[in-house]
Amino acid sequence: MFMLKDGFGRVVENIRVSVTQRCNFKCFYCHREGDNRLTYDEMLPEEIERIIRVAASLGIHGVKLTGGEPLLRSDILEIISRISRIPGINDISMTTNGFLLKDYADDLKKAGLMRVNVSLDTLDAEKFRMITGVDGHESVVNGIIKAAKANLRPVKINMVILKGVNEDEVDDMVRFAGENGLVLQIIEFEWPRIDSVYEKYHADITDIENRIRKKSAKTIIRQMHHRRKYVLEDGTEVEFVKPMHNSEFCLHCNRIRLTSDGKLKPCLFKNNNLVDILSPLRGGADDDKLREAFIEAVNRRRPFFFT
Ligand code: 5AD
Ligand code: SF4
Repeated sequence: MFMLKDGFGRVVENIRVSVTQRCNFKCFYCHREGDNRLTYDEMLPEEIERIIRVAASLGIHGVKLTGGEPLLRSDILEIISRISRIPGINDISMTTNGFLLKDYADDLKKAGLMRVNVSLDTLDAEKFRMITGVDGHESVVNGIIKAAKANLRPVKINMVILKGVNEDEVDDMVRFAGENGLVLQIIEFEWPRIDSVYEKYHADITDIENRIRKKSAKTIIRQMHHRRKYVLEDGTEVEFVKPMHNSEFCLHCNRIRLTSDGKLKPCLFKNNNLVDILSPLRGGADDDKLREAFIEAVNRRRPFFFT
């Protein structure tokens, strides 16, 4: 079986596909998946399918759909059902802001989506509006509950810790996760520059992690980024994502990204080494040529934080 390996021995097994840059939220901290070049040239469902087929032929087996907000694409169900028919793909998930999830959950499951990550930083409707610019707290919470009922399991909550905003809500969020059978992911705020925004909102999440560790019954080290996951006494799972200045994170990164306008992106933190795969595809390239684009992108991978 072919494996895509970069120059640092990291095997690339997952692809994160941005299907649109459009979003119905305006989160003040949004890094747009590290892709803030505003482009509206979106790939067609059959183009996404073709690229994932090529990826699968190179040993990639996990696909995460992201945005922007993926549910804004009116053809999202078609995209998922096309991907779900590709041999070799055994994990299809989505990261969504959850606003439209309530209406979509059942159909997403039917189309072949397996699990879902929903961004939710606070349980306070007023703070939610401050963070996202939208009055949508209730819709998102309903979407989360509906997704769990639709068996899109595990439903993971992405909680970005923002200094002075939601640091005090971790215990409430752990309880919310426990009550609804969700996994909580606590994410460190990341920012490309050390500027006033970073200074204002970045908080080291080590203390939070230590506190959760003390309460936990078991620690699991995940392969992806070597993220640590703690299982609490009641079975609730809490995972920590600390990308900033973390060489361990980079050393165990096994994903590549595809931007919404069809460029392979070797690293979340870099925008100047993209490999265009959509233009050759539209120009009639055969699968071997598209495989070359993948291999080129993988060869350009360098751990960003490296000691
Ligand atoms: N830092 C950390 N996480 C972020 N996200 C968006 N912007 C940032 C940031 N600056 C998170 C969202 C979403 C996930 C894909 O990335 O909460 O859940
Ligand atoms: Fe960005 Fe996601 Fe917020 Fe939309 S919901 S603005 S994509 S973080």
